[in-house]
Amino acid sequence: MSAQTIISSEIPVATNPIGVFDSGVGGISVLRHIHALLPQEQLFYVADSQYAPYGNKTDVEIQARCFAIADFLIAKGAKVLVVACNTATAAAIDVMREKYSLPIIGMEPAVKPAADASKNGIIGILATVGTLKSAQFAALLESYGRNVEVVTQACVGLVECIERGELTEKNTKDLIQEYCTPLLAEGADTIVLGCTHYPFVRALILDVVGHDVALVDTGAAVANQLKNRLVEKGLLSTSNQPGNVIFWTNNIAMNATQVIEMLWGAHAEVNVL
Ligand code: DGL
Repeated sequence: MSAQTIISSEIPVATNPIGVFDSGVGGISVLRHIHALLPQEQLFYVADSQYAPYGNKTDVEIQARCFAIADFLIAKGAKVLVVACNTATAAAIDVMREKYSLPIIGMEPAVKPAADASKNGIIGILATVGTLKSAQFAALLESYGRNVEVVTQACVGLVECIERGELTEKNTKDLIQEYCTPLLAEGADTIVLGCTHYPFVRALILDVVGHDVALVDTGAAVANQLKNRLVEKGLLSTSNQPGNVIFWTNNIAMNATQVIEMLWGAHAEVNVL
């Protein structure tokens, strides 16, 4: 039976796919880490681009989107879900874990790694409005941000630039300049990329902040955590064949597939959601 025809009532086994999703194409930055670490796994990715950005939506709206996508991926046979979105994790992971029994991996801004890495004790956090105002983020600062000065900056409009595939355009650079300037003015020597879209503009951010500033994100850590959970649950694929990677998007823009392929870095099978 192919993965496409697996039905939801089956108990997932190690050969089933890993379901990954984001408000849009940002989570592909995480997917790349997962694929590099676990090339034998089948990966199903949903870009909810029609509803991006999540950053300015209410928790209830984001939860509704997460349920719809989780239902879709579980119906496709997902053995585990990765919420490759900081905003969705903050808004919805608790209710998702109440509703679904399969393992769900989420992500949060890399406050601890940044606090550990900073030499001068000043860290900047770039994230969405939703992430920065969440209770989860407050708890993160409480746990790991006590011994450092933390400067936060919401990056309104940046996710939309990346959704359009504008990774090097002037308007994207202008926004980055606007959002990084306050962090540099406060002396931040380490900046957290607290949204999965932002690693795709890492080069532009470095242009603006200079190469002495360290940029930190959690893509690799999430992939490691996913691997550990799969091992623990006996769900790690032992196939010696490379796993298929399949994308779904509800983006109606003409260049939706082209943007996904640019961010994925290879030809991609893209379906309409
Ligand atoms: N990639 C999402 C994140 O990590 C972007 C959120 C949005 O759509 O605003 O937060």
